[in-house]
Formats: sequence, C-alpha cells, structure tokens
Amino acid sequence: MSPSTPEATVPALRVRDLRKTYDNGVQALKGVSLDVMPGDFFALLGPNGAGKSTLIGIVSSLVNLTSGSVEVFGTDLVTRRSEAMRLLGLVPQEINFNLFEQPFEILVNYAGFYGIPREEAEARAEAELRRAHLWDKARVMSRTLSGGMKRRLMIARAMMTRPRLLILDEPTAGVDIEIRRDMWRALREINAAGTTIILTTHYLEEAESLCRNLAIIDRGTIVEQGPMRALLAKLDVEGFLLDIDGQLPATLPVVEGATLVAADRQTLDLDMPRAMDLNRVFAALDAAGIRVRSMRTKSNRLEELFVRLTGQSREAA
Ligand SMILES: Nc1ncnc2c1ncn2[C@@H]1O[C@H](COP(=O)(O)OP(=O)(O)O)[C@@H](O)[C@H]1O
Ligand SMILES: [Mg+2]
Repeated sequence: MSPSTPEATVPALRVRDLRKTYDNGVQALKGVSLDVMPGDFFALLGPNGAGKSTLIGIVSSLVNLTSGSVEVFGTDLVTRRSEAMRLLGLVPQEINFNLFEQPFEILVNYAGFYGIPREEAEARAEAELRRAHLWDKARVMSRTLSGGMKRRLMIARAMMTRPRLLILDEPTAGVDIEIRRDMWRALREINAAGTTIILTTHYLEEAESLCRNLAIIDRGTIVEQGPMRALLAKLDVEGFLLDIDGQLPATLPVVEGATLVAADRQTLDLDMPRAMDLNRVFAALDAAGIRVRSMRTKSNRLEELFVRLTGQSREAA
C-alpha cells in the first residue's frame, strides 16, 4: 500500500452487489452492498431466513458466491482467498470443540492447525484464556464449564489466530440473558483492543447494546444501513395523519419539536417524538381554529420491520 493511502480508509469488509442463489433456486442474497470500517462493532440484523448466515458463510469461505465481490481489508476473497482468510476469525453458532479436552489444549491445537508454532501457541492460549477470564479453568475438562464459559472459550479460540476481523453468526441465539451479557462483555473487550467485529443477530436489543453501526437485512436485501444512533432516533418518531373539519388555513401553527405539514386540504401529516405530549399539538391546532375530526397512525416501514423482528425474537427466545 502506498503511503498516500491511509490504512484507515480501507474497509475491514467491503461487499458489493453480492448475490447468492442456492442450487434449489432460493435467492438468499439479492444484491447486497455494505462497508464495515476498521475498529467498528457492526451488527447485521434481520429475521430468520433473511440471509445473514449466507452472507457470513460467503465471507468466511464456507459458501460460494453467485456474483458480486467481497474484500477483507482490501484483499479480494475470490482471487486471494487464503490471504483474506488469514485476516478473519469466525465464531460459529454451535459449540463445536471437543468437550473432553481442556481449554488450554483446545486453543493450542487450534493454533497448530493454523501453523502457529507450539511455544507461540501456548503464549497466546494463556493470553486469550486470561482475557476470557478462563485462565483458572485452563486445565479442567471443557465439559465442566458453564454455558457462558463455553461461549467465551469459542471466542478465545477464534482469537488465537489474531484475526483483524472477528465474525460471529448469532452467537447468542437461544442462550439465556446471563450468558448473553457475559459474551457481550468479552466482545466489548476484544473490540476495545482493536479487533473489528461483525455480529449477526435477530435481537434488536443486542445490536443496540453492542454495536455502533448496523445494516438490517430482510429477504436477501439490505433495507436500512447506518449508525445505530441515527436508526434509534428514527424509531423514536411517531407519525399520525389528522383528518380535520373544513379546510386547512394557508399557514399552519408551529409546534416546537414536531413536524406538521398539509398532506392535502383536509389532512395534516404529523411527526413527533414518541415522548412528546399529543395535547400540545391539539392545543396549538385549536388555537389556530383547526378542529381535528379523527386521526390515524401512519404506518412506518422501519417500525413494521422492527415489530416483525422483535416479534420473531420473542418467538425464538
Ligand atoms: N444450503 C442451502 N440450500 C438451500 N437454501 C438455503 C441454504 N441455506 C440457506 N438457504 C435459504 O436461504 C435463505 C436465507 O437463509 P440464511 O442465510 O440461513 O438466513 P438467516 O441466517 O438470516 O436466518 C432462506 O430462505 C434459507 O432457507
Ligand atoms: Mg442464520
């Protein structure tokens, strides 16, 4: 890389027009594009069947893409696969280490699989077990670890290759809240130490608690993308349509904090923060001689999506 190209401008993950059609004809991804910047903690949020695992599977080379491109820190996944793979670590959803091995051995053996010399592997294993608060469990049989400890061991194992990008596919689906919180703590520490993290989830609460940026995927398409804060601000707005008696005056009253516009001559379109008192709007309208006959809630695409998402997460929990 030339010195004039600052490293920070190369995304940790760059996905362009990614499509995947499985052999049975299911179009799991229909042209997905996204950038995840280095250092980010990024959520890929979506209901079951949205295409999250397909996307993660492609990025981690478990699934072949149909078309489009994927770059990991500027390294093309198709043309320079092994180089790209060396930059990332994957935590699968299911616990898949040998329950009859000790945590220390699990980590050292994993590193050996990636060609890391024994001495170095042992040093890393100690460091990772300490970070995962599992050092005192290094020599017990893994079977005896609690659920939360097993999940932290999965993360520690993925960290043995010192990935710059750590990817987790629904790491907390179906696990109880204690264990989830425990994992969140571990992931925050890893992110704070500089590793970029991408996490798929169908829990809005999880994305909200952990992530700075997110994309919402639904039926193979990204439907929303951006900073978590901006998305939450959007979700905090409520919209109404007010049907009024007679005709609207030429100038509408101004209500601080709310947006009031004429949808047509007999309908007002109102957006206001959820916490705001609706009576303030009615008082202002009344003072301006505008009488509200009836009102309805405006349907909000994002809102509907979230209702669906949270509805599904409750089912799954
Ligand atoms: N190996 C596969 N063969 C055929 N269809 C698949 C396969 N894996 C996933 N799908 C389908 O692709 C769509 C997306 O699935 P997936 O990526 O697993 O979604 P998510 O992880 O968001 O739940 C679903 O309709 C699913 O049934
Ligand atoms: Mg999945």
